[in-house]
Formats: sequence, structure tokens, C-alpha cells
Amino acid sequence: MRTYEPYRVATDLHRPGPPLRVAAENGSAAWLVTRWEDAREALSDPLLSADPSLPGYPAGPGHRGASTGGSMIRLDGAAHRRVRRMFTGEFSVHRVERMRPLIASCVASAVADLRAQGPGADLIPTVALTVPQAVILRLIGVPESEVPATIAAARHLHDRTFPRSSLASAEKAFLARLRALVRRGPADDLTGRLVASGELTEDEAVVNLRLVVAASVQTTSSMIGLAVLSRLTDPSRSVDDLLADWSVVQTGPRRVAVADTSIGGVPVRAGEGVVVSLPAANASRPPGAGHVAFGFGPHQCLGQHLARTELDEVLNGLFPVRPATPDLRTYDASVIYGVESLPVTW
Ligand code: HEM
Repeated sequence: MRTYEPYRVATDLHRPGPPLRVAAENGSAAWLVTRWEDAREALSDPLLSADPSLPGYPAGPGHRGASTGGSMIRLDGAAHRRVRRMFTGEFSVHRVERMRPLIASCVASAVADLRAQGPGADLIPTVALTVPQAVILRLIGVPESEVPATIAAARHLHDRTFPRSSLASAEKAFLARLRALVRRGPADDLTGRLVASGELTEDEAVVNLRLVVAASVQTTSSMIGLAVLSRLTDPSRSVDDLLADWSVVQTGPRRVAVADTSIGGVPVRAGEGVVVSLPAANASRPPGAGHVAFGFGPHQCLGQHLARTELDEVLNGLFPVRPATPDLRTYDASVIYGVESLPVTW
């Protein structure tokens, strides 16, 4: 059920069928994978690498390639497992449930801000972006008093209008903040526990903290905006229905073959790229089968329980609103789908 038409990117290609030869946005030859079973096969194939520095990697729009060395989302096999296992406990169902009061309080303060701004207020910056930002920053150990300044320092990670000329300096300043957090030493929060374990180097800790912040904000904020819209027309959709309906990671995940392999019976040669269409895969899943909006296999979303809980808390904590305008602009040319702004009234 989609009120606002998604998938501006390659709409016609996103029909479920056998892997299809396409050219990625960077010109690399790639296979577009659209069927649910093929998506799962591709995303669990150890011969497909997530390393964007390899020749043939099908880079997508907005792919900056910056600061990704050592980031778990770009690592394969044992190197990936080594880093990921340092974070899995922090995002388990149990741990996220213990964070629910913190999440609820971030939602309550964002919703109060929306109400205070009055009808016409934009839900995207006020609630959809602020909640995941505040939650992830508190979770990694940023003190409450420093959250607003850190949100401002992280703007370049999600704001597509951020001036390109200032990107490098903004990134440097943001990484310096994360490094200061790591250097603070052991503490009772995600970063403090990471440091106490002594398992990761300082650089590995910094780059993966950056990843969890970057990976949590745009995705969750897009889903919050779209979920609020969907619930207007069909209040019965569950959080997971909504995640599958929208599949906001619309032209990813992406991989490159490091050796000859096959997907859905189609040979994929070493050096060829693979782009998995999660929207198409979800649309073609067998009745009752789990969705792949969070991906599948070793890189399946680390923050999925957190994302579900944030969505749940926002949908429960928000008073009834409706769009203040029928013209909602969606993101163009972005791997992640969403609405640019969502002025609401009540
Ligand atoms: C609705 C919100 C979200 C959606 C739709 C989403 C979607 C995804 C998808 C599709 C992947 C797989 C990427 C791949 O295979 O290349 C992924 C990975 C990841 N996500 Fe999420 N995500 C969401 C929220 C979050 C949150 C809140 C966090 C906070 C921790 C997070 C952290 C990550 C990380 C760290 C990875 C990489 C995991 C790895 O490489 O092992 N995500 N996400």
C-alpha cells in the first residue's frame, strides 16, 4: 500500500524476474537482482564482496567512499565478523528493550517541539530526523548536553544539500568528536565498553562509530516520515508491514564478485557487480515469508531492533497529524527513498 509513488530510480527495472544486466550509476556493468530468493542467495554468497574499493564495484548515487576503511559494512568474511561481533550485543532485542525509556523520552521531547511549532511544522527535521539522531548519539555515549551540537556536526552525513566544498572539513571535525569520545576511556555506554574490550584499534572504533551514526539516521528518518503517511490511510499496518511496503533502501545493497559464481542460475563472473533491489525482492516474497528490508546474510542490519523500536515509539507517541500540503517531494537519485519534508497540521 503506497500513497506516494516510490522508486524514481529505474522503476521499470524493479519488476521481479531473473538477474538483469544493467549499468550502475558509475558505469560499471552489474546484475540487478529482483527476486526474493535471488536476493537472499546473493546476500549470503561469500564470493560477493562488499568492498567498494575493488575493481568493478557498482557504486551508487551519493556514494562518497570516504572514511570507509575498516567500516564493517565494507568488510568481508572473518574481518567483518571480528568487528561486527563487538557491536551485536549492544543492539540485541534485550538491550534495545532496555533503551525503550530513553527512546520514548527522545520521542516525547521531539513531539512536544512539533506541537509547540504549531500547524504547518515540518515533521521531518523536528521528529523524523531528531529522534534517531538523539537516540544513537546518547547510545554511543554523547552526553545529553552535547547532543544538539553533535547533531549539527553530523549534518553532512544525511543532508544532501550540504555544500560539497565543506564536506571534507565537516567530516574531519565530526571524526575528531568521535575520537575524543573513544579517548575518554572505559565507560558504561557503547563506546566505553568498546574501549574497555581492547579488541579494536582507535581508528577501527572511530570509523565504526561513524558507521552506526550514519547508518541509523537517514534510513530511520525516511521510514518515520513514510510510516506516518501510510498509517493515515491504513492504520492496521504493523511496523514490519511498513518496513516491507516501503523498503527504503531502494537500490542497494551492492556487491562485486571476487570469483565466478551464480545467482538464480545465472552465471556472475569475477569482477562483475551486483545490485540487489530490496523493494522488488520484498514485492515478490512468498506469502508469509520474512521481508528483506533490513537486508539478509552477514551484513543484515545491525540496528534493526533499534529501528523497529524507534518506529514503534514514534507511531505511538505522535498525536494525530495529517499532511498540510498534497505536494510532497520525494528524494531523487538517492539510494534511500523518503520525503524531503512533511509539513503537518492537526
Ligand atoms: C528503518 C531503518 C533501517 C533500515 C531500512 C536499514 C537497512 C539496512 C540494510 C538494508 C542493511 C544491509 C546493507 C548491506 O547488506 O550492504 C543495513 C546494514 C546496517 N545497518 Fe541498518 N537500517 C536501518 C536502521 C539502522 C539503525 C537504527 C542502525 C543503528 C545501529 C543501523 C546500522 C546498520 C549497520 C551498522 C549496518 C551494517 C552491518 C554490517 O555490515 O554487518 N541501521 N541496514
